Amino acid sequence: MPEKTFHIHTIGCQMNVYDADLMANCLISMGYRPVSEPDAADLAIVNTCAIREKAEQKVYSLLGRLAMIKRQRPWMRIVVGGCVAQLAGGRILRRAPYVDLVFGTRALARLPELLRRLEAGEGPLSDVAGGDGVVEIGGPLQAVVQPTVSRFVTIMQGCDNFCTYCVVPYARGREMSRDPERIVAEVRALVAQGAREVTLLGQNVNSYGNKEGLCTFPELLERVAAVDGLKRIRFTTSHPKDLSPALIDAFARLDKLCDHIHLPVQSGSDRILARMNRRYGRETYLDLVTRLRAVRPRIAITSDIIVGFPGETDEDFQQTLDLVEAVGFDGLFAFHYSDRPGTPASRFSPKVPLAVKRRRLDTLNALQQAVTLARHQALVGATLEVLVEGPSKRCDPCGPEAGDGIQWTGRTPDNKIVNFSLPASVDAPQPEAGDLCQVRIEAAFAHSLLGIWAEDRAGLKGEACHAA
Ligand code: SAH
Ligand code: SF4
Ligand code: F3S
Repeated sequence: MPEKTFHIHTIGCQMNVYDADLMANCLISMGYRPVSEPDAADLAIVNTCAIREKAEQKVYSLLGRLAMIKRQRPWMRIVVGGCVAQLAGGRILRRAPYVDLVFGTRALARLPELLRRLEAGEGPLSDVAGGDGVVEIGGPLQAVVQPTVSRFVTIMQGCDNFCTYCVVPYARGREMSRDPERIVAEVRALVAQGAREVTLLGQNVNSYGNKEGLCTFPELLERVAAVDGLKRIRFTTSHPKDLSPALIDAFARLDKLCDHIHLPVQSGSDRILARMNRRYGRETYLDLVTRLRAVRPRIAITSDIIVGFPGETDEDFQQTLDLVEAVGFDGLFAFHYSDRPGTPASRFSPKVPLAVKRRRLDTLNALQQAVTLARHQALVGATLEVLVEGPSKRCDPCGPEAGDGIQWTGRTPDNKIVNFSLPASVDAPQPEAGDLCQVRIEAAFAHSLLGIWAEDRAGLKGEACHAA
């Protein structure tokens, strides 16, 4: 019998990327083979995100495209997973009757059984049952979706914070932490497959283990840092209300912890932060920034901001701009507020008109772009450590073309993308994915840096590049 094929289209956050690998693992163990285009798939999964209206709309437009493909390949099965699946369940089957299976975020472990039922001719099926406990799936995680060198590891699922604008607690359920032994074993297995960097994922990693009485997040970091061969650790996301002195201290103690923290502030106005139920104020946030920089002067701080939250005035927005200037973020993900059905904020008024939200977003992005570029330019001339991810495919939209002598790409500890070339005279071995290389920065752009390998020839393939 010919091999069956599958394709997964993932929308949304890193947690969905991680889940896509779990899905891929499960399909491979059932005899499926991944294909890069849905037109060649016998099974197409859309792994969905519900965080903003736009992400949800994208799901239905993707499903429409899959329906067209299914007309040519009537045996194709269309499957919807992820956060929209969890929230909308059977409604998806009514709106898109060509869908064969809807499975929610809590049904991931039941995917093999659901697929077997589909293969046996049952369907359409929907499994969006809730349930307590961490969702665990056995078996080693293969590198299917994520690149090999830098991998995501979900350490906790769900969220208990109920920020008033946010759908995640409904789409992912209550906060639950995975067992530290399993996490460390997974990291070890990933390193054995070639990973050199892991990013630990949770909606609020700072509260890891609290509920279950497991170890604390800083203790988990210490255990992960002890894994041989792992060179770098990142984590996301940190909720400012739970950023403990012990975590700040971990930055002082653990060399493998990268010089970067993503610390979403959401707004610079105390009034709006209170309406968002964030449970910290702007002064607390600024104080955290000062304390982080005291232990790691080079730490890159990135953030998320929502503009146009219901009731946000020009004055509130100005406070956000002031905070952004005061902190000098390395990067910012800014969004305009989107009403999510069922959340408290969807019932808040007055709503900010779309034109005002757009204008505020443009103002904020323009301010941040100037700050980011200035921070990048300040790195020109410096020699930075880069973890090589692989050959450079695409350079900065504002920078030179890929292939223009630019051969490699990777990231610095503070998460800057660096594309780099070898000095003209070098005919020695090339770097490889997973190597740590010293790169001298020669130019800076909005989204990346450009450099040249600064290893002397004697150092090529030496200690600096093969420290593992
Ligand atoms: N757990 C993370 C955030 C996960 S969602 C945290 O607490 O920071 C990622 C980002 O999406 C959020 O930080 C927020 O900026 C944005 N977001 C969430 N809900 C939104 C909404 N209804 N409208 C616009 N942006 C939203
Ligand atoms: Fe959403 Fe708030 Fe939880 Fe983050 S902490 S996932 S913004 S509810
Ligand atoms: Fe989206 Fe769900 Fe992540 S709503 S942002 S995919 S947790």
